[in-house]
Amino acid sequence: MQVKLTDRINRIAASPTAAVVAEAEKYKAKGIDIADMGVGEPDFPTPDHIKRAAIRAIEENKTKYTSTPGIMPLREAICSWHKRELGSSYEPKESVVNVGGKHSIFNVIGVLIQAGDEVIIPAPYWVTYPDIVKYSGGTPVHVATLPEDGFSVKAAAIEKAITPKTKLMIINSPSNPSGAVVPTPEYEKILALCKKHNIWLMSDECYSHFVYAPHKSFSISSVAGAKDNVIVVGSVSKTFAMTGWRIGYVLGPEALIQAVSKLQTQSTSNPTSIAQYAALAAMTGTMDTVPVMLAEYAKRRKRILELLRAIPGVTCVEPGGAFYAYPNVSAHLGTGPSHRAKDDIELAKLLLEKAHVAVVPGAAFGTPGYLRLSYATSIERIEEGLRRIERFLVRAESAS
Ligand SMILES: Cc1ncc(COP(=O)(O)O)c(C=O)c1O
Repeated sequence: MQVKLTDRINRIAASPTAAVVAEAEKYKAKGIDIADMGVGEPDFPTPDHIKRAAIRAIEENKTKYTSTPGIMPLREAICSWHKRELGSSYEPKESVVNVGGKHSIFNVIGVLIQAGDEVIIPAPYWVTYPDIVKYSGGTPVHVATLPEDGFSVKAAAIEKAITPKTKLMIINSPSNPSGAVVPTPEYEKILALCKKHNIWLMSDECYSHFVYAPHKSFSISSVAGAKDNVIVVGSVSKTFAMTGWRIGYVLGPEALIQAVSKLQTQSTSNPTSIAQYAALAAMTGTMDTVPVMLAEYAKRRKRILELLRAIPGVTCVEPGGAFYAYPNVSAHLGTGPSHRAKDDIELAKLLLEKAHVAVVPGAAFGTPGYLRLSYATSIERIEEGLRRIERFLVRAESAS
């Protein structure tokens, strides 16, 4: 029988980052050593006290359905944590727990966006936003950012993109893939625009705790009067090295939270009970692993920038946060004899095939000519990966 799919599913593509990870896995399965800078997840283990809380939850038979929006102690803990760490003032009824931050975003867009709605997304953007918007029937509207601004979006650029159809904008600071951090005064101007034009502002804070000095962790929800327009999306994935546990959350107006919970009652039901107890331990326990990870990422950021900038024809903006470098490799792209690939998509493919390095092409993030390199991997692997990239780009040498 022919599989006739909906227009809805045909409007979207599979995540390009997931595709890179899957491709790299094929090589690894053949025993090929891949310098993997494709994957966007901490290479640190989940802290012990969090793992122990999960084991305890299993032993205490906390293995049944929970309330759909999450266990109340976790919702309380998320609100207290967000207040303590980022200065907001949410109550548990203004919170809902989801199956990872990606699911939180999917749910929020699912209840807010429909055909005819426009969603402003600064580029480069996290690969998933435009596809979720399209799946909901909405139209993504991209706003360009500039490398000379560190890819940080400007309120003035956003204002030009606002139309009567604009319903939502998504700000991801620090950003995946560029590491851009929106300075607080600029963010406040963006909020003022949202208020003026009656637009929702989704603040994706998945990397909130990975910011490098002089930047500081910041949530726009902490600004007086912001809560009417702001929807916070957060996750334990990166902050607590818990990507596989799949716990994210939304903080926002009660009516929106109720709608997200309603959608969840008809889809996933509650997030995994055991993972919720682990997240509870994360949110209420020591955070001493966070500065340790941040210090390590800071060292890696310095090293990867040195190595990238030493490659002729490669430029790279210093990321203010997250754990990605986003170099411009366009000097190596084109059809001339000294060019190594026609575009960044082909280059990423060749780097995997010939140089055995996994990276994600900038086209996936709406900005061709770039590559995203995750430095959530050891300095040794970063050095090896960059050696291979340099050999391939400059000396036209392959790994094997
Ligand atoms: C910008 C951004 N938002 C949200 C997420 C979602 O993370 P998770 O679903 O693991 O919570 C990611 C993960 O890579 C991300 O990079």
